[in-house]
Amino acid sequence: MSRLTQRRREAGEEPLPDDVDREPPFLDLVRLEAQARAVLEPSVYDYYAGGAETETTLREAPEAWRSWRLRPRVLRGVDDVDLSTTLLGSPVATPVGVAPWAYQGMAHPEGELATARGAGATGSLMCVSTSANHTVEEVAAVEPESPKWYQLYRLHSPAHTAELARRAGEAGYRALVLTVDLPLLGRRRRDLVHDFALPADLRMANHPTAEDRPELSANASATWTFDDIGRYAELSGLPVVVKGVLRGDDAARCVQAGASAVWVSTHGGRQVDPAVASAHALPEVVTAVRGETAPDGSDVEVYADGGVRTGSDVLTALALGARAVFLGRPTTWGLATGGAAGVTRVLAGLSEELAHTMALCGLGALSEVTPDTVVRSG
Ligand SMILES: Cc1cc2nc3c(=O)[nH]c(=O)nc-3n(C[C@H](O)[C@H](O)[C@H](O)COP(=O)(O)O)c2cc1C
Repeated sequence: MSRLTQRRREAGEEPLPDDVDREPPFLDLVRLEAQARAVLEPSVYDYYAGGAETETTLREAPEAWRSWRLRPRVLRGVDDVDLSTTLLGSPVATPVGVAPWAYQGMAHPEGELATARGAGATGSLMCVSTSANHTVEEVAAVEPESPKWYQLYRLHSPAHTAELARRAGEAGYRALVLTVDLPLLGRRRRDLVHDFALPADLRMANHPTAEDRPELSANASATWTFDDIGRYAELSGLPVVVKGVLRGDDAARCVQAGASAVWVSTHGGRQVDPAVASAHALPEVVTAVRGETAPDGSDVEVYADGGVRTGSDVLTALALGARAVFLGRPTTWGLATGGAAGVTRVLAGLSEELAHTMALCGLGALSEVTPDTVVRSG
């Protein structure tokens, strides 16, 4: 019995017709979101689902990936697809990872701990949010062999921000992800309407004081500068990924300042609106850092997120030069409906779709995905 049916039964509601309730034999994210919506408080659903201002960035994100078309190769004898790769040197089974998203305890009682288990089961990398309901160390201790990155906002207290960076290094995270697209909070109309606040029973595990809660304070102002990149690499002893870059010139400056990777993102359409879609910013960023080396001498990596919903979206991002993609809301809906298993289902489902699409395109490994795999449509 699905969670939706169970909930309707408990509420004394009529069961849905069989054909509506039957799980389809593929990953149906529209349906999964509807199921999650049915089990979440309306203000919580809107917090997760919503974007800033007119939500133009949010709406356009998935469509933007589909402004490219695949150019399949034939007669390549591909019957098995290998999705394994490395991210900043850490082996992963799939280039599909979990983006950092806040307050996972509102989606499931085990919050980030369940997500870490779900990601570990598929060999996916998880990036853990500063605004987690579990501490830096608690999440690190789940599936400790599975690579995790720690996402950091610049908080009001510089000392506390530095302390979190140091703790991330000590706890075994493999990289520090500095999110730079939140100098102040975007205007999210749905949250303003609900007067959204974290439920009283949940703790901001990593923010001891109210003014250190970046996502809760509409007046938060926490500006990083390029100089912070090298400083935080040193403080944490970890390679630094800069998240929220949408321009080639910024990407080049991040690398000059000591970044090992840049992450193309609009923050899920929750900050600048309307902003250029990740799918359209990615080629410029990839070109800007091509041939650049990270502080350890390896190639600079580029990642992307925002509206990635199908295996062909993933393949398009990889062909445009991303080494990995990250999922935000799809994992939210997975966690809300099925806990760790729900997260696994989403990550495994999308990875299977990617493998299937690659096989159809005659691609047996990620190293075979070249820029000429896609062409701009129209
Ligand atoms: C509910 C929610 C909370 C988020 N919280 C954070 C956060 O704490 N730190 C961060 O760097 N990005 C945060 N993001 C942005 C995600 O990391 C990611 O960029 C975005 O969700 C990707 O788009 P998608 O949801 O369309 O897959 C959040 C996104 C959502 C939807």
